[in-house]
Amino acid sequence: MKIEALKALLEDMTIEEKVGQTIQLSADFFSDQSEDITGPMNEMAMTEKKKYQVGSVLGLSGAKETIDLQKEFMEKNRQHIPLLFMADIIHGDHTIFPIPLGLGATWNPEAIKLTAEISAKEAAAQGLHVTFSPMVDLVRDPRWGRVMEATGEDKLLNKRYARAFVEGYQGEDLKNDLTKLAACVKHFAGYGAPRGGRDYNSVDLNENTLREHYLPAYQEGIDAGAKLVMTAFNTIDNIPATGNKGLMRDVLRDEMGFDGVLISDWGAIGELVPHGVAEDNRAAAKQAITAGVDIEMMSAAYSEHLVDLVKQDDSLATLLNESVWNILRLKNDLGLFEQPYRGADEETESQSVFSTDNKQAALTVAEQSIVLLENNGVLPLNKEDRIVLTGQRRDSNDILGAWSWKGDLSKTETLKEAMSKTVGSENLSVIDDATFLEGQYSFFMDDIRLADTVVVAIGESSEMSGEAASRTNIKLPENQLVLLRELKKLNKKVVAVLFNGRPLDLSDVIPLVDGLVEAWFPGTMGAQAITNVLFGKVNPSGKLPMSFPRSIGQIPLTYNEDSTGRPLTDEKRGEKYFSRYLDTENTALYPFGFGRSYTRFEYAGCTLSKQTMSADDVLTVSVTIKNTGEVEGLETVQLYIRDKVAEVVRPVKELIDFKQVTLTAGESKTVSFEITEAQLRYTHADNTVSSDAGTFLIGVGTDSRVSLSESFVLEKE
Ligand code: NOJ
Repeated sequence: MKIEALKALLEDMTIEEKVGQTIQLSADFFSDQSEDITGPMNEMAMTEKKKYQVGSVLGLSGAKETIDLQKEFMEKNRQHIPLLFMADIIHGDHTIFPIPLGLGATWNPEAIKLTAEISAKEAAAQGLHVTFSPMVDLVRDPRWGRVMEATGEDKLLNKRYARAFVEGYQGEDLKNDLTKLAACVKHFAGYGAPRGGRDYNSVDLNENTLREHYLPAYQEGIDAGAKLVMTAFNTIDNIPATGNKGLMRDVLRDEMGFDGVLISDWGAIGELVPHGVAEDNRAAAKQAITAGVDIEMMSAAYSEHLVDLVKQDDSLATLLNESVWNILRLKNDLGLFEQPYRGADEETESQSVFSTDNKQAALTVAEQSIVLLENNGVLPLNKEDRIVLTGQRRDSNDILGAWSWKGDLSKTETLKEAMSKTVGSENLSVIDDATFLEGQYSFFMDDIRLADTVVVAIGESSEMSGEAASRTNIKLPENQLVLLRELKKLNKKVVAVLFNGRPLDLSDVIPLVDGLVEAWFPGTMGAQAITNVLFGKVNPSGKLPMSFPRSIGQIPLTYNEDSTGRPLTDEKRGEKYFSRYLDTENTALYPFGFGRSYTRFEYAGCTLSKQTMSADDVLTVSVTIKNTGEVEGLETVQLYIRDKVAEVVRPVKELIDFKQVTLTAGESKTVSFEITEAQLRYTHADNTVSSDAGTFLIGVGTDSRVSLSESFVLEKE
């Protein structure tokens, strides 16, 4: 629709119709065709008339369902304005990819872009227009169950992934490419830092940390063109984000340049009341519209009060117009006025959903997401080996993880099923974990005696992470530790496969196993991916996007912590008055960037093209890496720096670039990085972003433990 026609449409709307656009209802409001006002209708202050004025629907899918509703809706809507259909397509639609934390472990933004393209294609064919993804919240606390939805603790990694997701979902021509979805960057801002790791809890971040570490990934998603942003449930500076005018208008809109639709999280406007910053829903509606929240998801503040508020206050009428304009523009950007059903098509749906190609992509990315944590010479396994498979998760199809929108467990292979195709049933004995826990395995004595290796599948169930799934204990469940202790007594090689949605405290596990494979929740093709890694068809290459602590007491723990005035150096180890714990190391058990391979990569020291650079120079850092093992492997080469002296305290180390390189056995390659002044910038005390002249320490290596043994100087006029 031409912009003039869109303006005319807005001008023709009554206040009630305008407010309607700002309301989002869940699909169940439309599933009951009767004229009765149902329970949820009451809660949302809905009437039949108001229902056909709303702007968007959450959680409906299926080509037929969305086409039918759109048709009926547009007939009953006075101006025939189409609905927007939105849903949480987080890591796949029908074809489920690894959870985002697992995707983060690929260090492969291109792979993530492909998962977003496939998700969009499947979802668009079912009539969806918007996905509530990507969640780009930076995370440092594995107690928070939603770390599974994040891509990790590092701003650079999160930025690259944020862009990949948005570009994958939206493509280059959202209006005309009907296989695309509009993306929604969430949750603005700082939702990944709830106090104590407890979901929905308040957030306490100083402004410098917020700007330096947390905001950049949202910014990148916005710069990549994300059409929507979702508000966070939490507070920032003790003001709930959803009613925070300074955050939403001054920072998000004015500073960060966001020009799209701002949607509240589920019920978050109504939650301004229990937060204690609004007397009632009416006050909450006023705060949220003042903050610039365009769409209210599933609370009744706008629905009940916005019409009246606007009638009494002209300045609110202007804000309402702005919000409706944002929503109409989004509908127009999706081409809905011309094509209200957009990509919804039953035939395409049946072809594009869960196709062979999509499953192949899910297999490849799942393989890339797996992180080899330990290997005392036991992996890869031989196909001819005799294997005992046990553990609580040995035959579970609960491997898709939370937020697996249309993922179908009945179409998901278990590890037992996938492994038995590779080794053949004569070599695979599957033994119930209860057998070991009860010490009653005499019946299986022969199998155990003949076995070369015991593979034990353990970890969390999918409900143990995700929204509202915070935990104070991030060790394995006790019965799984008991199982590992029992298996240790068998004097066999033990390989543990872990399914989990968060970094776990694995310190008790390490002495009990010879091999440890981090599989996350690997998705539709996950069991096959794990099997391919276990048997060496695939050489694992995943690297942790988030630190695994030695103890819950270290949380929050991150590789890029701020420098302290009393850093613990090797020489000071054992001395008292340094920043340290009495009972454990400061470092992670498995650090950020860590992951083993079936081969070995040897790094020669890095060389710098110059020792001094000016602001318009490019400095090249090169390092030669040799595969000194027996098999081909992929290595993620990581470049870290430290700004030695700055205006504010800077991290002890930060990732500024990375590259992946594949090396055959015996092969060497030189990998080069180009450093420009832009990569040396940081947030100053007055919130400006710039670099300072001075010395930078630098190092290239296989994970975040790399020593920063070289240095260069940035010179400025
Ligand atoms: C609440 C979650 O916080 C948000 O991420 C999600 O998109 C909405 N619910 C809708 O399901």
